[in-house]
Amino acid sequence: MSVLRSISLAERQAIKRDILASNDTFVAALPKVELHVHIEGTLTPSLRWKLAQRNGMTLGLKRTGTVYHTLEQLEASYELIVSRPGHSFNHAEERFTFFEAYYDGFEVLVTKQDFYDLAMNYFEHAASMNVRYCEPFFDPQGHTRRGVSWATMMGGLKEAQLEAERRLKVKSKWTMCFLRDMSPESAMEHLEAALPYRDMIVGIGLDSDEYLRPPSLFEAVFSRARAEGFHLTCHCDVGQQDTHDHIRQVASTMGGTGAERIDHGINAAEKPELVELIRRNGLGMTICPWAYMRHEPLDEIFPRLRVLYDAGIPVSIASDDPAYMEDSWLIHNMLVAKKMCNFTNEDMEKLTRNAVSICWAPDNVKSDILQELEAVVAAFS
Ligand code: HPA
Ligand code: ZN
Repeated sequence: MSVLRSISLAERQAIKRDILASNDTFVAALPKVELHVHIEGTLTPSLRWKLAQRNGMTLGLKRTGTVYHTLEQLEASYELIVSRPGHSFNHAEERFTFFEAYYDGFEVLVTKQDFYDLAMNYFEHAASMNVRYCEPFFDPQGHTRRGVSWATMMGGLKEAQLEAERRLKVKSKWTMCFLRDMSPESAMEHLEAALPYRDMIVGIGLDSDEYLRPPSLFEAVFSRARAEGFHLTCHCDVGQQDTHDHIRQVASTMGGTGAERIDHGINAAEKPELVELIRRNGLGMTICPWAYMRHEPLDEIFPRLRVLYDAGIPVSIASDDPAYMEDSWLIHNMLVAKKMCNFTNEDMEKLTRNAVSICWAPDNVKSDILQELEAVVAAFS
């Protein structure tokens, strides 16, 4: 590969058509585990429109005052999202574009029913892709700062979680992320407020704008979270200014001895010592190719994924923010990884096993998924 620019929307759409036309029944049939999906990033334009109507709200882009008068206008706006903050190709004014769209979306989440509908919409998608277990992220500070109560937020998420397990056979635990562009004190307050909901929450992560916000700023809250029994993970977004240093912190010092997973972090592939550190310390990685294809050249994505995978790091594939990434869900991310990395069916099985091994589900849930996986593999061999 020698594409030195990120590819256009039309090119990404052509790739999407291509991977879907491959009609890959093996990848479709695999029982899946998804470990990196932001529940707020699954807010599709149509669901956002429905919730806005129900809550009597007008939709638009807050900063510019642009109003979307129709669902079609809202849908078209999702195609204009340019990039992530801090990336070297960005112009300063583009820096918040993804986050602007993402956080503007939060506004329609007001009632318990809204949170339920959001989560249920994801679980329905998950079930249709044979996801058996997932650990979706949620961003409580993005809701409490708008005046939403914990009872509203957690009540809706919990009802959906229980119903998904019962009706769709999708099991889940939530991963609560702190917003790294907010203060460590706010993170600590939210950790304490979350303690009554610990039966729903299995892990703690760190997301949002990484620019000048190293994980070390949050050391006290991560250590406390670990002492409270939560698992730890942390975003290291692609192409960030201090990404290698952030990856090093996550792999070796976060929470005292390093987190258990890194979300994204593919720049580690540029530094053999970081690859070795991640491997030696046993961290898993969650890689979301479609999220990077919007702003990274292809040859800065897939060869790096290959390096991490070939080094024996337990890499898993996930979807990040499917509604903001051209409606690209777990299946699309798996298929594009397969195509671009020349992964075989055995590799796809391995990636699935990796997700099982690095997830935080109880052993019986893991062994049920592995049993089903073996049956699927046998049926295709
Ligand atoms: N990175 C950082 N923050 C986020 C992301 C992400 O991928 N998605 C939603 N919030
Ligand atoms: Zn993410």
